[in-house]
Amino acid sequence: MRLMVLMVAAGAVMASGVLAQDAAEDPFADAVEMRHGLMLQMATDLGKVGAMAKDETPYDAAVAGKAAANIAAIASVLSMDQFPAGSEYQKATDSFALPAIWEKQDDFLQKVADLNTAAAAFQTAAATDLDSLKAGMAALGGACGACHKAYRQPEE
Ligand code: HEC
Repeated sequence: MRLMVLMVAAGAVMASGVLAQDAAEDPFADAVEMRHGLMLQMATDLGKVGAMAKDETPYDAAVAGKAAANIAAIASVLSMDQFPAGSEYQKATDSFALPAIWEKQDDFLQKVADLNTAAAAFQTAAATDLDSLKAGMAALGGACGACHKAYRQPEE
C-alpha cells in the first residue's frame, strides 16, 4: 500500500516536471497555436463564401449560412485569452502578433467587437441570396483586414 502511494506520488512529480519543462521551453506555444487555429478556421470559411462571391463556386444558401455562422461563432471566442502579454512577434515562436496589441489593447478589442458586428450582419446576408452575400463581403473582409493592418506582422 505504501509502495503504491509512493509510486503514484513519483508519477505525479514526473508528470508535473514534464509540464514545467514544456512551459519553460515556450510558455506561449498553446496560446499561439490556439489563435492560429481559430484564424485558420475563419479563413477557410471566408474562402468558401469568397468563392461564391467571385462566382467560382455556385451559391448555396446552406453552405454560405454555415460558413458565416462559423465565423460569427469564432469571432465570439476571440479575446485576450488567446493573446497573453508577451506572446508577440520575435518573442514567441511562430507569432506574428505585433506588440501594439498590448499597447493599445482597447483598440484591439474594439476590432474584435467590430468583427463580431460584421459577422452577425453577414450571417443574415450570406443566407439570403447571392447578391446580399456579395454586398456583405466587403464589410466582413474589412473587419479582418483592419485588425491585420494594425496588429499583424506581414509574413515575409
Ligand atoms: C482583432 C484582430 C483580428 C481580427 C478581427 C482578425 N484577425 Fe486574423 N490575425 C490577427 C493577428 C494578431 C494574427 C497573428 C497571430 C499570430 O501569428 O500569432 C492573425 C493571423 C491570421 C491568420 C494567419 C494564421 C496563421 O496560422 O499564421 C489568418 C489566416 C487570419 N488571421 C485570418 C483572419 C480572418 C479570415 C479574419 C476575419 C474573418 C481575421 N483573421 C480577423 C488578428 C485578427
